[in-house]
Amino acid sequence: MPKWLENAVFYEIYPQSFFDANGDGVGDLEGIIQKLDYIQALGCNAIWLNPCFDSPFKDAGYDVRDYKKVAPRYGSNEDLFRLFDEAHKKGLKVLLDLVPGHTSEEHEWFQKSKMAAPNEYSNRYIWSDSWISWGLDGFRFIAGEAERNGVYIVNFFKCQPALNYGVLNPWQPWQLPPDHPECTATREALKDIMCFWLRGDKGRGCDGFRVDMADSLVKNDDPGKSATAQIWRNIREMLDAEFPEAAMISEWSSPGLSLPAGFHADFLLDHEGSGYKSLVRDYKLDGENRFTGPNNSFFKKDGAGDITRFLAQYMPWYENTKNAGYISLITGNHDTPRISLGLDPSELPLAYAFLFTMPGVPFLYYGDEIGMRHLNPPTKEGGYTRTGARTPMQWSKGKNMGFSAAATDRLYLPVDTGPGAPSVEAQEADPRSLLATVKALLRLRRSEPDLQARPNLEILYAEQGRLPFVYRRGAFIIALNPGGAPAEAAVQAQGRPVYAIGGCSLDDGRCRMEGQSFGIWKV
Ligand code: NOJ
Repeated sequence: MPKWLENAVFYEIYPQSFFDANGDGVGDLEGIIQKLDYIQALGCNAIWLNPCFDSPFKDAGYDVRDYKKVAPRYGSNEDLFRLFDEAHKKGLKVLLDLVPGHTSEEHEWFQKSKMAAPNEYSNRYIWSDSWISWGLDGFRFIAGEAERNGVYIVNFFKCQPALNYGVLNPWQPWQLPPDHPECTATREALKDIMCFWLRGDKGRGCDGFRVDMADSLVKNDDPGKSATAQIWRNIREMLDAEFPEAAMISEWSSPGLSLPAGFHADFLLDHEGSGYKSLVRDYKLDGENRFTGPNNSFFKKDGAGDITRFLAQYMPWYENTKNAGYISLITGNHDTPRISLGLDPSELPLAYAFLFTMPGVPFLYYGDEIGMRHLNPPTKEGGYTRTGARTPMQWSKGKNMGFSAAATDRLYLPVDTGPGAPSVEAQEADPRSLLATVKALLRLRRSEPDLQARPNLEILYAEQGRLPFVYRRGAFIIALNPGGAPAEAAVQAQGRPVYAIGGCSLDDGRCRMEGQSFGIWKV
């Protein structure tokens, strides 16, 4: 386990939209380098960069055409090595986004794989041996795209053919078992890509990977994903031997499976049943992001107010995996609606106070620190409704909110210039801003080992349909009342207040919380 994860706080950057240094309307690596001081001052000490590799961008870069080449619109490989170097000088780690399950249909491997004549890459993807195989057993096949007599499986969009790590219990002649040499060759090719970026250039390498759809490798895997896990454990062995400080964080949302498979941390995503939804996005939207019913998120001041819905999912995972690795809570990401869509400015600070005082490794999505809004732009690069959470960062009130010097109609996506659009500049000048709250929370977390990743969580008061929610982390008692009305609970502890939002107290065996308040006491 890389030691640095113990006090890591990540900042997720969607490179298209962060900062455009060369004025072409699209964010770039030089732009990120110029904003490293900002990220550091925020209190984050690690970055997750969404894919920045050569790509036709039909899925925003999750369709990789060349894993070893930075997309020219972001800069060059040298710029990425420079980013690692500059980040490291400031004590920041950088994770790249590894897309192991599929490539772009334009990747050279696929171009060769789809040829009629057998070659080294014929089995790099999963091809049936005739066109009539499509539709079998839930796989999604694409037909009519190649001269080869077969159809291939995709992982996500049509442009993302699934790489061949094998099929568990093959039942068709064209399906290969995971230990087939042509399937293990895919695994070795993946390791080669990882080593390329971890080694970097002249000692300038990345610090690990966020791994896309980490559970997607072996097809027809069993419910415990044992064949996929075996591949990751093999990769982890390589990392432990050669890059013991490299971190692997999975997009899996099932820590009971991912952590024993070798990941150091796993995201809790907004999948059904993950518990995350009950906290911040327990609502339904139509295709235009309009609410179609009530918002029962825990952090709504008039919400259902029930933390037990979250704990019922989280605690068993936490208890069963706390010695194996970390669970990562997120403010949001490039696939979820902006957290501010469901929570108003009075509710966001309480949500962040919770997310940043829980165990595990938290992730802050760019712009959430100022409460950037979810917009409704037309779909871009396969984003569909996700596009609204991917708009340019709002740095200042100036042209294009300080994101880019380009003409406004050349921006990657429209920037939020509407009334009340938040900006870094305005919030830096306001000690009561959301940005100031985030900074204070992260400063506290970073200075207190008991508030970092370590598994020292103890629930003190959590009752169905009742508030507050009170928990302990080592020497700290933490209480939270997201509801609009005062709430109190019996808590047998005395402590010195160290941080508060709103009015709250802990004495005489009672924790008393005003409406929408949060407190931390050191006992
Ligand atoms: C998950 C990524 O987060 C998402 O943005 C992408 O579209 C899919 N995986 C496919 O790679």
